[in-house]
Amino acid sequence: MKEILRGKDIRPAKGKLGVLIPGIGAVTTTLLAGVLSARKGLARPLGSVTQMGKIRLGKRTENRMIPVKELVPIADLNDIVFGGWDIFTDSAYQAAMKAQVLDPRHIDPVKDELSSIVPMTAVFDKNYVKKLDGENVKKGKNKMDLAEQLMKDIENFKKLHNIDRVVMCWAGSTEAYHQSTKIHSDIKQFEEAMKNNDPAVTPSQVYAYAALKMKIPYINGAPHLTTDCPALLDLANENNVPVCGKDFKTGQTLMKTILAPGFQARLLGVSGWFSTNILGNRDGEVLDDPESFKSKEVSKLGVLDTILKPDVYPELYKNLYHKIRINYYPPRGDNKESWDNIDIFGWMDYPMQIKINFLCRDSILAAPVMLDLILFTDLAQRAGMHGIQEWLSFYFKSPMVKEGLYPENDLFVQRDKMENTLRYMAKEELIHHTGLDYYYDVEEK
Ligand SMILES: NC(=O)c1ccc[n+]([C@@H]2O[C@H](COP(=O)([O-])OP(=O)(O)OC[C@H]3O[C@@H](n4cnc5c(N)ncnc54)[C@H](O)[C@@H]3O)[C@@H](O)[C@H]2O)c1
Repeated sequence: MKEILRGKDIRPAKGKLGVLIPGIGAVTTTLLAGVLSARKGLARPLGSVTQMGKIRLGKRTENRMIPVKELVPIADLNDIVFGGWDIFTDSAYQAAMKAQVLDPRHIDPVKDELSSIVPMTAVFDKNYVKKLDGENVKKGKNKMDLAEQLMKDIENFKKLHNIDRVVMCWAGSTEAYHQSTKIHSDIKQFEEAMKNNDPAVTPSQVYAYAALKMKIPYINGAPHLTTDCPALLDLANENNVPVCGKDFKTGQTLMKTILAPGFQARLLGVSGWFSTNILGNRDGEVLDDPESFKSKEVSKLGVLDTILKPDVYPELYKNLYHKIRINYYPPRGDNKESWDNIDIFGWMDYPMQIKINFLCRDSILAAPVMLDLILFTDLAQRAGMHGIQEWLSFYFKSPMVKEGLYPENDLFVQRDKMENTLRYMAKEELIHHTGLDYYYDVEEK
């Protein structure tokens, strides 16, 4: 087993970091406009741990809170070069204007940079995203051929921009629900299936395969399977490449994983949690198709069980009725609105209710998540880490975990895990919050 590189041994973030993104839509263009504006000092990268986060080191008496980017060698925003693929030919500027997440007065100052990011032809299969049709799509004799075309795209991009390292992050539409099949059980069968144009190989898996073959880390911002199967995980481990997913944790699920740990910690029962949403962006339209919604539903439904643990506390959570609805409602655009009704019960079984009405902006919440994932995954690779990056669960609705483990969904446990991983990388003492030294000191005095 290879050791993770720590402290000064982590390869420095020298040279340019290429960020290649399948899907130049609402989330991607919001990320790009924000990063480009931050570079010019025109906007603050709020919500990003890599840019604004501080981390406590040592004992509380030491008063050491240092910026995360000073603790570990994170790539500089000025060293990032963006590129990507989409089934539409719109430049990132045109896509940002169409997405209507950002006001034109926040897009115009970076218009030239955004206009220069023009999507390469995509690997696409309408069977996996029923609601979309685009003209900017690759043709090839089979899926292996398409993967090879993607590898050529990556090579050309690297040469053109003199790139040192690359990270790939999926921000394309959610694909129809599918599970691992026999062809996903090892890489040989997977490669055979690609050559045979097997329908079980999804477009996102063609991208992931191309990335992993080229030793490029792959992040999955959507809920579908992609690298969460033995074939692609084996390839990632063999090639020493980090992977992580699935589904950026934003909006309603973020709120759920903030609240549920509190109910569980105070042993309040939960009998029902009804969540409904309206949203009107392209993502909402794609999710209007039941098969794409099913991918989303599975990723959203899982979070409560692993936090509340009904098997450990059946008297509090066994009968919990959890229902999620997503409704496509065009007038609302990217400004989603969600409602949660939570039925809880406490002392002597007295019932109580909590109502949440969250008027959020999906892509505003997703952009810093995507930025952190890109920068932390690049860091992980330079630290020699490979396979599933569970320490990045903090950012996902449905975190990938090794077979046999359940995912950790509690946002605060996820944060502790992430911060301790960063401390470990930096050769700093891990923090466990027991404060036992304090009590012993007091007794000794
Ligand atoms: N916005 C959020 O808060 C949030 C949270 C979690 C997950 N996500 C996921 O992130 C993804 C992007 O969301 P969005 O709001 O930007 O959606 P979007 O519809 O605005 O953008 C997706 C883009 O992907 C393109 N695309 C589809 N299939 C492709 C393919 N095979 N190759 C290349 N491009 C392809 C589409 O043409 C579109 O431009 C979705 O899967 C969404 O479910 C978003």
